[in-house]
Amino acid sequence: MIAHGYENLAQRKGDGVASGPAHAWSGWWTRGHAQWPFTSRQGIASILTETQVLTGGEMLPGFACPVSGAVRVMSTILITGASAGIGAACARAFAGYGTRLVLAARRVTRLEQLASDLEREHGTRCHLIALDVRDAEGVASTLGGLPPQWAEIDVLINNAGLGRGLDRVHEGDPADWDEMIDTNVKGVLYVSRAVLPGMVERGRGHVINLGSVAGHEVYPGGAVYCSTKHALDAITRGMRMDLLGTGVRVSTVDPGMVETEFSVVRFRGDQERADKTYTGMTPLSPEDIADAVLWCATRPPHVNIDEIILKPLDQASATLVQRR
Ligand SMILES: NC(=O)c1ccc[n+]([C@@H]2O[C@H](COP(=O)([O-])OP(=O)(O)OC[C@H]3O[C@@H](n4cnc5c(N)ncnc54)[C@H](OP(=O)(O)O)[C@@H]3O)[C@@H](O)[C@H]2O)c1
Repeated sequence: MIAHGYENLAQRKGDGVASGPAHAWSGWWTRGHAQWPFTSRQGIASILTETQVLTGGEMLPGFACPVSGAVRVMSTILITGASAGIGAACARAFAGYGTRLVLAARRVTRLEQLASDLEREHGTRCHLIALDVRDAEGVASTLGGLPPQWAEIDVLINNAGLGRGLDRVHEGDPADWDEMIDTNVKGVLYVSRAVLPGMVERGRGHVINLGSVAGHEVYPGGAVYCSTKHALDAITRGMRMDLLGTGVRVSTVDPGMVETEFSVVRFRGDQERADKTYTGMTPLSPEDIADAVLWCATRPPHVNIDEIILKPLDQASATLVQRR
């Protein structure tokens, strides 16, 4: 892993970031469950060279600069649903920290545009995959067949998800229910099942699920969407129990209202109805959520962030929203 991370940062030498400022850096090297703290007044490139030489490339460095606040994660990150909203914002946030990205979604053209932007802006290396998380066989074969240099996923962000309609149960369309359950619940299970064995084998990794306040509350017309996020909450907690002792971390980031394409998808392209969701209030941005996801991923290896719930200041519960 370090070889990949080093290669990635080495490309950035001279941009003033990879070479690092001349103040103290602290962080840790990890291998399996073992960690070694370090501090250094050298820049990032020197730390990486030093780590590479001392450990023969076996250790994974993560380090934070207490002065600039910058954190580097030498990792490969897989993001599902990276073609829009929170997933795309996560890709941009992690790209800014020198990671390599495996970006997955059905709309590959969008992924290509994002990857090209990240390559230009950060020198990020991306591997793109066309993935419908509802397709159990497709998920297993695509993720099982990743090229060797992309196969070791360090952080899995299970973000792909959607709501369909706001119908009452007795009026709802079973096809909408299937789509939400297949994507938000079974999709997360299929992707996790494909990625987790490698993490367990390597003795490290991190699964970050995109839950929702809908996993903690229920609102009218949201019975099925809320049930999928309640299920995801149970999956997250069960997964953490199943993975205890393996070195793999499990977190969930559960937002309230975030302005993305979520409502446009929920109302099948009805932009006017989607816009009304956020009328007179200030929603969270996808970047706010990406910030929380990045924070979870960049804690020291012995720390597991179980759950982050974040809502706009204008939202007190799933149904109580302050509008002006
Ligand atoms: N926006 C909110 O207010 C909010 C609040 C709480 C939680 N969340 C959760 O946050 C996550 C991201 O939502 P968002 O707000 O960013 O919505 P978004 O802008 O609509 O993005 C959803 C992403 O999921 C992908 N996706 C949907 N179905 C998929 C499938 N079958 N296979 C693969 N990818 C699929 C889409 O990609 P393709 O269509 O290209 O496949 C897209 O990239 C979801 O899990 C959602 O439930 C959102």
